[in-house]
Amino acid sequence: ELATIGLTGLAVMGRNLARNIARHGHRIAVHNRTTSRMTDLIDAFGGEAEEHGGAFVGSESLEDFVASIEKPRAILVMVKAGEPTDAVIDELVPLLDEGDIVVDAGNAHFTDTRRRQQALEEKGLHFVGMGVSGGEEGALNGPSIMVGGSEHAYERLGPIMEAIAAEVDGTPCCTHVGPDAAGHFVKMVHNGIEYADMQLIAESFDLLRSVGGLEPGAVADVFREWNEGDLESFLIEMTADVLSHTDAATGQPFVDVVEDAAEQKGTGRWTVQSALDLGVPITGIAEATFARSLSGHTEQREAARAVFSTTSEADTVEIDREAFVDDVRAALYASKVVAYAQGFDQIAAGAEENGWAIDLGSMATIWRGGCIIRAQFLDRIKEAYADEPDLTTLLTTPYFADAVKDGVDAWRRVVATAARAGVPVPAFASSLSYFDGLRRERLPAALIQALRDNFGAHTYRRTDREGTFHTLWAGDLTEKEMS
Ligand code: 6PG
Repeated sequence: ELATIGLTGLAVMGRNLARNIARHGHRIAVHNRTTSRMTDLIDAFGGEAEEHGGAFVGSESLEDFVASIEKPRAILVMVKAGEPTDAVIDELVPLLDEGDIVVDAGNAHFTDTRRRQQALEEKGLHFVGMGVSGGEEGALNGPSIMVGGSEHAYERLGPIMEAIAAEVDGTPCCTHVGPDAAGHFVKMVHNGIEYADMQLIAESFDLLRSVGGLEPGAVADVFREWNEGDLESFLIEMTADVLSHTDAATGQPFVDVVEDAAEQKGTGRWTVQSALDLGVPITGIAEATFARSLSGHTEQREAARAVFSTTSEADTVEIDREAFVDDVRAALYASKVVAYAQGFDQIAAGAEENGWAIDLGSMATIWRGGCIIRAQFLDRIKEAYADEPDLTTLLTTPYFADAVKDGVDAWRRVVATAARAGVPVPAFASSLSYFDGLRRERLPAALIQALRDNFGAHTYRRTDREGTFHTLWAGDLTEKEMS
């Protein structure tokens, strides 16, 4: 009996995804370069698969693996992004038949996905870039799945993926995002938002501790309380858990024994690079990415600490703790709204640029469960797009506009307090500036245009009449109409 689907690459994510598929009653072909990973999986979980009416079909060689899958074959590739993915695809392709579907379920850069899709299309094969979010636990118990590639491929793949995905209110957290690399593009932005979310949480923690004078355990309680309201989300809940964890070796709060240099595998950086190309200001995500970079520059940080005082200005800032905690909550929520609005702007711009018809409301829908950024407020985003599919910005929709209006005074107080206390809040501050930038009647961009015209004859447009103009700055200051 042939398998309904195959998966090669049985590291943690691949292994859990394979178990999830088997637990949904599928015969799944499994393969791994190092065979022991495959046999270990079957030894440990073959029984579990059977209990659910599923089975693993293990193969040592890629040839046998391919031959064990029913046609048209659907094969998930779960290996490291970049060269390892290309290497597996190159090995697979000669073994496949026309109409077979190769699915890259890793975090590939969307331009790699597009290149691979074109290459496989020429060979009569389908290539699907599929974003999977939710980490190890999600892969096993229900991730959020962002599927790219052709409609045709989705017909074969979609039902299995929808079945293994998380579910919210009976709706699977899996959809056909759009053709080509749309799935990986959206996963990339998801990760960018994940960076912003985590940075905002980290800044809140820093403020509550340094200015609010709360120990990690007490901050955990604050987060636990926040998780009862609008901020309810996976990451807020997890923050409470992490902050209340005590290191067994030292008895210190766990957060104090972890080195304070944040790493990144690249998806946040890709998001920012793409946003620069698209001209979309995703300031929250960009600041979050740069904050990770800054944290890793240990030599520069040491040099700065040696020259500048490290005694905290926070001690000299007087606050009413209870009011401050509430202000930080409001600032966090408003900044989070900005980060999501920016992320959704980027998806809209990416869709437009690449000719993908991405339904933004569906993205909010499939992010409500399974993924790392799952949050109560994605329901609100889903509703906002249902009311107005061509939204100009999420920020101005009634619910979010009210959230920002209600929170703006607190937001300003928090950013001002942070500045006085010497606590870095790049994501809070840049989100507030973004909001102020959007709502400002006149921006100093006018001066920038004037300067550009002065030094480079770059021309400007006028507020009072149509046309493009240049002033003879080095001459008699007369204005010429250029077009
Ligand atoms: C997810 C996560 C997942 C992974 C990131 C971490 O959606 O499940 O985003 O994809 O944890 O790649 O990225 P960094 O290593 O860049 O923080």
